[in-house]
Amino acid sequence: MKSFIILASFITSVFAQNCSLPFGQCGGSNWNGVKCCTSGFTCKEMNVWYHQCVPSNEVVPNSNPVVSNVVPSNAPAKSIPTTNAPIINNPAPQNVNYVASNASSSSALIGYASMNGGTKGGQGGQTTTVSNQSQLVAALKGNNAKIIKVNGIIQLTSDVTVNSNTSIIGANKNSGFTGAGLKFKNASNIIIQNLKFSYCLGSNKDCINAQKSTNVWIDHCEFFNDRNHGKDYYDGLVDFTHACDYITISWNFIHDHYKASLIGHSDSNSGEDTGKLHITYHHNYFKNVGSRLPSLRFGTAHVFNNVYENIENSSVNIRMGAQALVESNVFRNANKPISTNLDSSQEGFVVQRNNDFGNTANTNSITKIGNLNTVPYAYTNDNVNSVYNLVTRGAGPN
Ligand SMILES: *[C@@H]1O[C@H](CO)[C@@H](O)[C@H](O)[C@H]1NC(C)=O
Ligand SMILES: *[C@@H]1O[C@H](CO)[C@@H](O)[C@H](O)[C@H]1NC(C)=O
Ligand SMILES: *[C@@H]1O[C@H](CO)[C@@H](O)[C@H](O)[C@H]1NC(C)=O
Ligand SMILES: *[C@@H]1O[C@H](CO)[C@@H](O)[C@H](O)[C@H]1NC(C)=O
Ligand SMILES: *[C@@H]1O[C@H](CO)[C@@H](O)[C@H](O)[C@H]1NC(C)=O
Ligand SMILES: *[C@@H]1O[C@H](CO)[C@@H](O)[C@H](O)[C@H]1NC(C)=O
Repeated sequence: MKSFIILASFITSVFAQNCSLPFGQCGGSNWNGVKCCTSGFTCKEMNVWYHQCVPSNEVVPNSNPVVSNVVPSNAPAKSIPTTNAPIINNPAPQNVNYVASNASSSSALIGYASMNGGTKGGQGGQTTTVSNQSQLVAALKGNNAKIIKVNGIIQLTSDVTVNSNTSIIGANKNSGFTGAGLKFKNASNIIIQNLKFSYCLGSNKDCINAQKSTNVWIDHCEFFNDRNHGKDYYDGLVDFTHACDYITISWNFIHDHYKASLIGHSDSNSGEDTGKLHITYHHNYFKNVGSRLPSLRFGTAHVFNNVYENIENSSVNIRMGAQALVESNVFRNANKPISTNLDSSQEGFVVQRNNDFGNTANTNSITKIGNLNTVPYAYTNDNVNSVYNLVTRGAGPN
């Protein structure tokens, strides 16, 4: 009854504005755009920062309460229900503005993707703007250099293959893919930037599934599903397996999911993976995740200047002889910040320094000290004291 009265009093202003397109953003903390959806779509709260226009007949899985599709543009953001939230012992500052239109974040490529000849994506190629799946698939054909701009959120009905020498870039901070994900197989030289990925339920159930691929840079993207369906309903958000190599994952906002980033899929794949799987994670914001940030087998990882917040089971998981340098990260209510002896038949090796573990330090389990004290590329390591603010403001699409 009360909501009916509120609706009625705002109905005039609602009709005066243009409501968000299918799958567009329609609300969330700090969202200044329109907060209603086009006909046939309903504004659903995906999390406290992001409400999305989804078909009213429930195509996109999510069990959060449905918000009316006629929400006044000046309505306050609804608060998120906390049924699945982990116990918070050490809450971090709440005034997080992760969508930084003016991010202090650098878009220069650093890390392992800068090696092995570097990662230039489609630089020098033709630019094509796409706004639906068939245009995307057509634009992605071939291994010639090409830049694909994604305009708006494209609903994918199946995982889409990305070939070599390709950049896929969001045209604005509300561009990307929902429903399924991207796959790379035997490809090289790929840049994925400024895109939102959500509800990835293609055949891989991953948002990005890369195999036998090299020189990949994933930057300023957002990845999320939900945690309403159990940990195997979706699979990974950003997974690299089968001897992928020279990868950088930077400035992404990765949240509301169970198993985020699997690097090396099996204890029995040493023949293919040993000596490969070099990967850098820097300035990513991991929030409300179960585990695998990353989980690394056999490979080599440099994990620096990331923020881990509300991590349920384990954060950095290094196993099967893998080596990692883990430095200047911030852990807040992140269970098992760093482990070398979880889930596999052999341990991994870690060098850790300058990390801020908050009150979770005593849940580290580093059983083997590694030898990755330096990395073979130049990088700026931000002071750990500035990392929380820098990363929570700068990570995600611009
Ligand atoms: C809605 O869209 C129409 C056509 O693009 C435009 O003329 C009008 O100014 C828009 N209204 C608002 C409130 O943005
Ligand atoms: C970006 O940040 C700079 C420095 O803080 C500020 O002067 C400028 O107004 C900001 N621009 C936008 C678009 O917010
Ligand atoms: C994709 O967009 C193009 C250009 O707007 C349009 O011609 C085409 O019909 C669309 N395809 C689908 C399947 O919606
Ligand atoms: C990618 O581009 C480079 C340089 O233009 C070219 O040599 C190479 O063949 C391309 N890769 C593939 C797989 O075609
Ligand atoms: C992998 O890609 C290279 C370069 O495009 C091609 O020559 C080769 O045949 C591909 N291998 C497989 C197994 O697809
Ligand atoms: C976390 O650990 C518990 C207990 O081992 C397990 O039941 C649950 O599935 C795990 N969740 C994730 C996301 O790994």
